[in-house]
Amino acid sequence: MKRFAFINQKGGVGKTTLAINLARALTLQGKRILLIDFDPQANASSGLGVRVNKEKSIYQALVEEDFESFVKEPFKGLFLLPSSIDLVGLEVELVKHPEREKVLRDFLFSVTFKGLPLEKAFDFIFIDSPPSLSLITVNVLVASEGVIIPLQCEYYALEGLSLLVRTVRRVKAAFNPELRLFGMVLTMYDSRNRLSQEVAEEARRHFPWLLFNTVIPRSVRVSEAPSFGKPVLDYVPNHKVSQAFLRLAEEFLRRNA
Ligand SMILES: Nc1ncnc2c1ncn2[C@@H]1O[C@H](COP(=O)(O)OP(=O)(O)OP(=O)(O)O)[C@@H](O)[C@H]1O
Ligand SMILES: [Mg+2]
Repeated sequence: MKRFAFINQKGGVGKTTLAINLARALTLQGKRILLIDFDPQANASSGLGVRVNKEKSIYQALVEEDFESFVKEPFKGLFLLPSSIDLVGLEVELVKHPEREKVLRDFLFSVTFKGLPLEKAFDFIFIDSPPSLSLITVNVLVASEGVIIPLQCEYYALEGLSLLVRTVRRVKAAFNPELRLFGMVLTMYDSRNRLSQEVAEEARRHFPWLLFNTVIPRSVRVSEAPSFGKPVLDYVPNHKVSQAFLRLAEEFLRRNA
């Protein structure tokens, strides 16, 4: 698979952090990654040190049907299509669009990069999404092949998951037969905290085939890195959380092989 959606309608569970750092870890393995920021909060953009700018956002790229003048390469091999707050307006405009669920997909399949279709130009395409099950999120699912769900090791981590899984099934049936649940990743894991262990056990019991073995530990370094516009892997390369993202990238490649 090439195209992956990072989805969880619950806010602040680690979608953006996972998308940025898994992408970065894969570039260190020599892969070329396109990260599409499809969240009006634009955290993936600012977290990679890209100035958020209405004129240069994915919203404008969709309007102009142009990829090449909007894509950036903030880190070697890690390409970003940035977002901005005006993506909020897309939700409203989509409602009256005849193919409202397929706008992002059609864009990805019609534009090129250096003369190549995007699937040829990049090894993987990651799409970060907002904390909702809106039309924006449906567009992300219709444009993707694999779904990656981060689970925060906190109370209620598994709540809402059945709705999320149902939504994936509905989108698969109606618009995108190639869509699959690809994996779940436990984030913000604190081994000294009983609750973290309980969430991990419960997730393992319910989704044994989906859960990645690698768990992302909780570290204040992770929350500091975006303010320097860097992935954790560049901010504290030797830290255990960076090592976890590197292991996760290896597991991701094995699972995808
Ligand atoms: N492993 C971690 N350890 C400590 N803090 C973390 C970790 N992962 C993420 N965070 C912090 O938790 C907050 C939420 O993370 P993030 O922005 O990645 O979640 P999100 O699901 O993308 O949020 P949203 O739903 O708003 O898009 C951020 O402040 C982030 O820095
Ligand atoms: Mg986010």
